[in-house]
Amino acid sequence: MSTLRRILVTSALPYANGSIHLGHLVEYIQTDIWSRFQKMRGHECYYVCADDAHGTPIMLRARAEGIEPEELIARVWTEHTEDFAGFAVGFDNYHSTHSDENRVCATTIYERNRDAGHIVRRTISQAYDPEAQMFLPDRFIKGSCPKCGAEDQYGDSCEVCGATYAPTDLKNPVSVVSGATPIERDSEHLFFKLGDFEKALRDWHKAGHVQVEVANKLNEWFEAGLNDWDISRDAPYFGFEIPDAEGKYFYVWLDAPIGYMASFRNFCDRTGVDFDSFWDADAQTELYHFIGKDIIYFHALFWPAMLHGAGYRKPSGVYAHGFLTVDGAKMSKSRGTFIRARTYLRHLNPEYLRYYFAAKLSSRVDDIDLNLEDFAARVNADLIGKVVNIASRCAGFIGKRFDNRLSDGLDQPELFDTFVKAGDEIAALYEKREFGRAVREIMALADLANQYIDEKAPWVVAKQEGQDARLHAICSMGINLFRVLIGYLKPILPIMAGQAEEFLRIEPMTWGSQREPLLDHTISKFKPLMTRVDRDRIDAMIEDSKEDLVAEAKTTAGGPLAKDPIADTIDFADFAKVDLRVVRIVSAEHVEGADKLLRLTLDLGGETRTVFAGIKAAYDPADLAGRLSVMVANLAPRKMKFGVSEGMLLAAGPGGKDIFLLAPDSGAEPGMRVK
Ligand code: MSP
Ligand code: ZN
Repeated sequence: MSTLRRILVTSALPYANGSIHLGHLVEYIQTDIWSRFQKMRGHECYYVCADDAHGTPIMLRARAEGIEPEELIARVWTEHTEDFAGFAVGFDNYHSTHSDENRVCATTIYERNRDAGHIVRRTISQAYDPEAQMFLPDRFIKGSCPKCGAEDQYGDSCEVCGATYAPTDLKNPVSVVSGATPIERDSEHLFFKLGDFEKALRDWHKAGHVQVEVANKLNEWFEAGLNDWDISRDAPYFGFEIPDAEGKYFYVWLDAPIGYMASFRNFCDRTGVDFDSFWDADAQTELYHFIGKDIIYFHALFWPAMLHGAGYRKPSGVYAHGFLTVDGAKMSKSRGTFIRARTYLRHLNPEYLRYYFAAKLSSRVDDIDLNLEDFAARVNADLIGKVVNIASRCAGFIGKRFDNRLSDGLDQPELFDTFVKAGDEIAALYEKREFGRAVREIMALADLANQYIDEKAPWVVAKQEGQDARLHAICSMGINLFRVLIGYLKPILPIMAGQAEEFLRIEPMTWGSQREPLLDHTISKFKPLMTRVDRDRIDAMIEDSKEDLVAEAKTTAGGPLAKDPIADTIDFADFAKVDLRVVRIVSAEHVEGADKLLRLTLDLGGETRTVFAGIKAAYDPADLAGRLSVMVANLAPRKMKFGVSEGMLLAAGPGGKDIFLLAPDSGAEPGMRVK
């Protein structure tokens, strides 16, 4: 076989202020399949990643929650690692950019570039929030679009007409942080001179380290000219202070890709793997970054330039994938197609999704669509109907008639050979990240196996006298074909492959280990390896995703914080608009199909309202009837899946069982205004 390779693989580092969703998983599953494949081939391959923990949104999010950023990122780190584990994404190391290793690596890369003359300082004028006393990133300024006049647009681009502009061009700008009108303020910034690296970058691109589509895009960027890149931010900022610039911090995107290196450093320190042989300028090892198409600029320009300037090696490949759509449209919270990893796992087997994504992935940058109808049909037809079916059609006879022992010869050695030989082509496709084509090859083999079984009809042979040897040979043949197939699918379906290894009582499969058939060998009793996708479970997941939104809107009051941080305070005038009333809960009942909601009928002193509240985990409906509480009576009615909610009950608490309804003293009367 080919010589052994030494490979380091990464996926982009997810931000530490949001949950992992199915869009993210396109990337982590893609990378995981590739790295598992390399490991099966016997190569020395490491897959590392980390949380991207720095920056203004994370700082503000922590502030809004009333906690330190360190606490926020620690919590999210735990969530992220659990989510990834749930999808069998097998990182060798999962670290954080807020780590000692990253501070050291970032400092080294910065200082080497500075000493080589690639950093300049310049004073620039920027939007500043005089109330919050901080400079404002573009996304934290809103106003009217200078081009079409649309209101409530971000400081960098208009979602209505698509115009891009500078935040200073916005009409009636306001700070999203405090609501104040931003002013202009001067500050000295540090810039990385990207233009110094034009030749090095062009040579690197030409040498084929990026996809063709990406190379074309990069050419456009070269034509437009490479600008200096602002790598510093003023305090307050959650990040690393720049060693020789007090009160200035590295911009999150400077130390984010360095996090790849830092995670690997952390891994090497733990395991004794040699770090330098993966990062030295003349390293003979391979380095690959899997990323989404939105972050190509950072990975194909800034990152290799920074590495080059600091005397490190450049990546062997930067592989961009497209974006996930669900049923042909952008993921949407209101449609319930913004599906979190967690929500999915509550309802469906992670390997359904791994298989579906694999079947859709190619080496190109195209977007991929999760069509829920097709998802169910394809998983059922391929995995259940074809692959698992081979085993279940043969295993019963092996168990019942032959004491779980496989025959000592193959019924059709040529067919087995065809399966083994196809492995080279399938491996070549995995290697090229043509997973969809690899899956098609594997399914074509599965069709052959099923045809073989159909023709040999073991269920007929089983009834014939004196045909035991034939039956034994046919079923053993089927099991052997199944074994080769599941070996080829193992990078995609590591969990099912593990169960198949137990069933077959074999060592963990590697790429070459199915070349010889399994003969005269005892296997275990067959247990179904996977159940069919049930459309009801998909629908329940979509509903559950809608409910997540309701729960989220309740606890954050200001919508998704990542984009739209709420202010620490509101004006009294804003508060006075809220019409708070004492209510008596007339009745409370479960809502069919809702995991979190109760339907409440409230008496406001004559008037009756229906309100849905996400308090099911905290309260037994029977205990609520007759109780007093307080509601927001002038909240606009909200159409929800289960009906219209006409207001909101006031409650506090972190969620789940710990939600506490406001309970006025028994002297209060329904309808009373709360002053
Ligand atoms: N923190 C940066 C990456 C720093 S890498 C040094 C970031 N984080 S992210 O959480 O927004 O995205 C992480 C990865 O997931 C990115 O590669 C991004 O392209 C990918 N995706 C996020 N949403 C996606 C879809 N809807 N579809 C496919 N991939 C998506 O960017
Ligand atoms: Zn506009």
